[in-house]
Amino acid sequence: MIDIAVFPVGGMGTRFLPATKAVPKEMLPVVDRPLLQYAVDEALEAGIRQMVFVTARGKASLEDYFDVAGELTAMLKARGKEAELAVLSQTQLPPGDIAYVRQQEPAGLGHAVWCARHIVGNRPFAVILPDDLVQGKPGCLKQMVDAYARVGGNLIAAERVPHERTGSYGIITPGATAGNLTEVAGLVEKPKPADAPSNLAVIGRYILQPEVMAILSEGKRGAGNEIQLTDAMAQLIGKQPFHGLAFEGVRHDCGDKAGHVIANIAYALERADVGPAVRAWLTANLPK
Ligand code: G1P
Repeated sequence: MIDIAVFPVGGMGTRFLPATKAVPKEMLPVVDRPLLQYAVDEALEAGIRQMVFVTARGKASLEDYFDVAGELTAMLKARGKEAELAVLSQTQLPPGDIAYVRQQEPAGLGHAVWCARHIVGNRPFAVILPDDLVQGKPGCLKQMVDAYARVGGNLIAAERVPHERTGSYGIITPGATAGNLTEVAGLVEKPKPADAPSNLAVIGRYILQPEVMAILSEGKRGAGNEIQLTDAMAQLIGKQPFHGLAFEGVRHDCGDKAGHVIANIAYALERADVGPAVRAWLTANLPK
């Protein structure tokens, strides 16, 4: 059973400057909800109750977002704004269910995950990268938790990417495939297309065994001179079961400007409140 998820949210978000000068990228909305809210909701749907946010300087608004907003709540109550109160209640988890640790230097994803080691302890855990927004029902992590119940070990969300894009992803050397699960025979972080073992990429959802923390403790630097989660995971291959899950759903790369705009449109179109207006605008304005 997976009961804890780590959210690496310490990144500087330079691709979204100037917005991210004052707003953490995880707080950028898709329609009206911050990216991080989607990630937390996905974890909750997967049965996870304990969240660990690995934050950094300048990210204090993340903590405020998931806290009780006393004045705002009192004002909405006084004005009888029930709908807004209900929306706000989604941002509150039971006391103590979110823990915050700080990543003091931008030393890579592996380093960020390792910063959560004392809270995670000796249990399997999930990692969610909020930049990767997966639109699907059930959510990607729920699909992974269900698969984990069958195969155990380590599990990563996997998706084919255009071959020329391998340099942006962890890339899998695929082994045998059974249904939607592929054995992971190798992993390499951000290979050039010419060196890539496949175009099967790691998407930002992981279920990992605690042994990965000991490997991360060695602090070995990899691609980009960063401590890479991919490199640490690669060392578990052959020692523990390791699978990639071909999840159902559409993944939006919200770390990318175009991906973020597309996610806004895709989520807006699904919504009863704003969907019709957005659809009408697209229909009227897109060239046939
Ligand atoms: C990270 C991981 C990479 C993975 C990607 C998924 O890279 O290091 O292995 O494929 O997330 O989004 P980043 O996008 O943080 O550079």
